[in-house]
Amino acid sequence: MISTHPVPDTVALNDAKDRIEIIDQTLLPGRTEILFLETAEEIYDAIKRLRVRGAPAIGVTAAFALYLLMKKSGAADHAGFAEELDRQAAYLNASRPTAVNLSWALQRMKRCAQTALEAETPTGKAKNNTDGFSRLRTHVLEAMLREATAIRDEDINACRSIGEYGLSLIHDGDGILTHCNAGRLATVRYGTATAPIYRGHEKGLHLHVYCDETRPLLQGARLTALELSEAGIETTLLCDNMSSALMKAGKIREIFVGCDRVAANGDTANKIGTSAVAILAKHYHIPFYVCAPLTTLDPGTPDGSKIVIEERDATEVTDLWYKNRMAPDNEHFTVYNPAFDVTDHKLITAIVTPVGILRAPYEESISAALSRH
Ligand code: MRU
Repeated sequence: MISTHPVPDTVALNDAKDRIEIIDQTLLPGRTEILFLETAEEIYDAIKRLRVRGAPAIGVTAAFALYLLMKKSGAADHAGFAEELDRQAAYLNASRPTAVNLSWALQRMKRCAQTALEAETPTGKAKNNTDGFSRLRTHVLEAMLREATAIRDEDINACRSIGEYGLSLIHDGDGILTHCNAGRLATVRYGTATAPIYRGHEKGLHLHVYCDETRPLLQGARLTALELSEAGIETTLLCDNMSSALMKAGKIREIFVGCDRVAANGDTANKIGTSAVAILAKHYHIPFYVCAPLTTLDPGTPDGSKIVIEERDATEVTDLWYKNRMAPDNEHFTVYNPAFDVTDHKLITAIVTPVGILRAPYEESISAALSRH
């Protein structure tokens, strides 16, 4: 078992169950502050601005959010409740398009609420009088809270299992490259791509992790390098364009990354720059592993060409980390800032999931993994 890190969960519901508490990741590594989210707009904004980010953490946030918003809803009857459920879920779902965990969690929460609404109203009585609806509302909210908590707990367990399976792929003395942050801060605890590393470290393996800084939002520098080095793991930061030199020098034994959506054929969307790392890995014969909870596998998307890629504001590239703007500013100048790219399944050595290590052909191994669980 991976021991609990002495830090707060990335996402939590407070004891009074009236607000979501997140570590505000835009302030890291300088400050660790807990941000309280109470309204739909605050939650939407926190996801959009990457105060909470990483596919699994976004999914858990969305699950708690839908419970919280329906608890605060003034809907007075069955139809009003159902209508608001749809509206709030659609609003939150629009905050970021690429990570499938967001829509998956919202769909699961909606299904849970709808089932509870219908199960309690076989005769339609509770729908139509105030007392009946009030009892029904309590029952639905209890079911939603259980479901959101289960989604949170399943994330924690999934990361633990990915850690166990991934451990079989690493060896004492390895240099490991990772891109972006698929760590503790991208999940509730442990992370996906970092789980085998935490587990190996816990078992006494000497590992050295190389973190791509991950332009333009620096999740590798600000988050991965922070959490791994604070856990006592030897960590070296490099700019994104340095990994080829590192691989050529023989410093990298394997590569672990996370993912935001894995299509049915294994094509994988992850942070921009991931596909370049995978292409380099193939050139240098280095295994390239994607770590994925089952919630990030999306059998409804046949291949990577169908994955919607989020494009973000130009100022993240031109201004965000600089004292002065570091690019021209005229009518002939534009910026290309996609947040993700798609790694072709042929470049992926294996997908490490909580139910085992999947190998090509991925259509078969992904579908078998999902149908077993
Ligand atoms: O834009 P971000 O920071 O949300 O992107 C995060 C990533 O690309 C992660 O690698 C991915 O979500 C997996 S997290 C376990």
